[in-house]
Amino acid sequence: MKLLHLDSSIMGEASVSREVTAAIVARLTAENPGIVAAHRDLAADPIPHLTLAGLPAADAGSRALLDEFLGADIVVIGAPMYNFTIPSQLKAWIDRILVAGETFRYSEAGPEGLAGGKRVIVAVSRGGHYAPGTPTEPLEHLETYLRAVFGFIGIVPQVIAADGIAIGPDNRAVAVTGALEAAAALAA
Ligand SMILES: Cc1cc2nc3c(=O)[nH]c(=O)nc-3n(C[C@H](O)[C@H](O)[C@H](O)COP(=O)(O)O)c2cc1C
Repeated sequence: MKLLHLDSSIMGEASVSREVTAAIVARLTAENPGIVAAHRDLAADPIPHLTLAGLPAADAGSRALLDEFLGADIVVIGAPMYNFTIPSQLKAWIDRILVAGETFRYSEAGPEGLAGGKRVIVAVSRGGHYAPGTPTEPLEHLETYLRAVFGFIGIVPQVIAADGIAIGPDNRAVAVTGALEAAAALAA
């Protein structure tokens, strides 16, 4: 079983999402010793913005990123909120995996996801709170976007969230502890 582990935080050792994705991968590999995990650091080794020449149909590097995703059984994604959405480094990766005819297709019945069957676990980390019903809910374009993207290709992601990271050290500690506990409790 193949696991693809993606991080996109620019914060290095201080990153919350990196700490949580590491805990998720540790949990899954402990529960499934047969897992072969590959780590892709989208901040340290960024994928360029998509261009016409860089479309997966035309570019071997983009095609390899798509194949890496298609070949994974489990995908673990660290997704910090930067300016209300995903880091542009993560967007560049998504631009390589949403490919008509590969991960979705348009039919007379509308769009159809073709990547169902994969398990996707997303660790989101946000400085503030964006819960439904709060005044900041309309600014939430991180989790809503990722749920829409993976839903479009046929996947319902599992999401582990650490919220209120920027409010203060106490909030941060509670949020990180909660996320790490959720990671440690993941089903195998
Ligand atoms: C460049 C930058 C932009 C950010 N923008 C937001 C934001 O729009 N909303 C928010 O709630 N927090 C924002 N934050 C706070 C981060 O979401 C928070 O620190 C989170 O822990 C980031 O995940 P990381 O620690 O894995 O990098 C921002 C942080 C940085 C560094």
